[in-house]
Amino acid sequence: MSEYHTPVMLNECIEALNIKPNGTYVDVTFGGGGHSREILKHLNKDGRLLAFDQDADARQNIIEDDRFVFVDQNFRFLKNFCRLHDAIPVDGILADLGVSSYQFDQAERGFSIRFDAELDMRMNQESELSAKDVINNYSEAELHRIFGIYGEIQNAKSLANTIVTSRLNTPIVTVADLKNVIANRIPKGKENKYLAQVFQALRIEVNQELEALKDFLMQSAEVLVSGGRLVVMSYHSLEDRLVKNFIAKGKFSGEVEKDLYGNDNKPFDTVSRGVITASEQEINENNRARSAKLRIAIKK
Ligand SMILES: C[S@@+](CC[C@H](N)C(=O)[O-])C[C@H]1O[C@@H](n2cnc3c(N)ncnc32)[C@H](O)[C@@H]1O
Repeated sequence: MSEYHTPVMLNECIEALNIKPNGTYVDVTFGGGGHSREILKHLNKDGRLLAFDQDADARQNIIEDDRFVFVDQNFRFLKNFCRLHDAIPVDGILADLGVSSYQFDQAERGFSIRFDAELDMRMNQESELSAKDVINNYSEAELHRIFGIYGEIQNAKSLANTIVTSRLNTPIVTVADLKNVIANRIPKGKENKYLAQVFQALRIEVNQELEALKDFLMQSAEVLVSGGRLVVMSYHSLEDRLVKNFIAKGKFSGEVEKDLYGNDNKPFDTVSRGVITASEQEINENNRARSAKLRIAIKK
């Protein structure tokens, strides 16, 4: 299991869920199952755990346990599949966003700048859109938007133009092709950071990560019992901003709405500690924990 993925802030997540031994819990990002296994340890024989993962490879970690159900779906369909499994209302939901170490380390999945492979980056290997499609078929304006907004890349406009000009001659198929094509756009000495931003942008677009997160957050409010916990761990600021705003305001931008009596109209209360980050020791042992931000909310 730990070779697949080392769970980040395991104790903090379990504490945040405040597990009721006979409760129903959902781990929407099963991955290597590190968090799920720990949740099961805190449940008695009447407890239940549903675990979502859209990547078929996560099936190799399925836990043999009568209290456990694996749902091979995108978590943007949280409500439908909780309903299908007769699991509403749920007592707690955990989301550990992004890709697993396993996914990064599989060269052919195309997630990592360390390997050469076809440009893919699909978490769900059945889905239609790959990074190759985005790079070769999106318009210059769309690429500009994706690199600017999802990658927070300074020269997004000229980057998009370089790609569109180059693909007129030859399609850009592999990670190495892409690196070659954009080499002149990369600021000297910042190669890794720049490429990581380009890859982040492509990954977010290919997997529609922000749309899926928004759908999930809205549905979490509908499936949780009053007093139930929403625990979300994110790894970049675009995700964290959505989580933070949704918990604080019940929406993704703008100000919180008020009801007729002037009370805040929002589904969650924030747990007073605000954002939680990993300890120095954990960061030293697991570099992935460095960027993790954990937020906890309680359903009103
Ligand atoms: C960071 S890993 C989770 C690791 C897990 N907590 C553990 O301890 O091993 C994220 C996992 O969530 C899955 N995932 C990401 N976005 C998803 C989505 N929208 N729907 C379903 N699964 C998703 C990925 O395929 C990946 O396996």
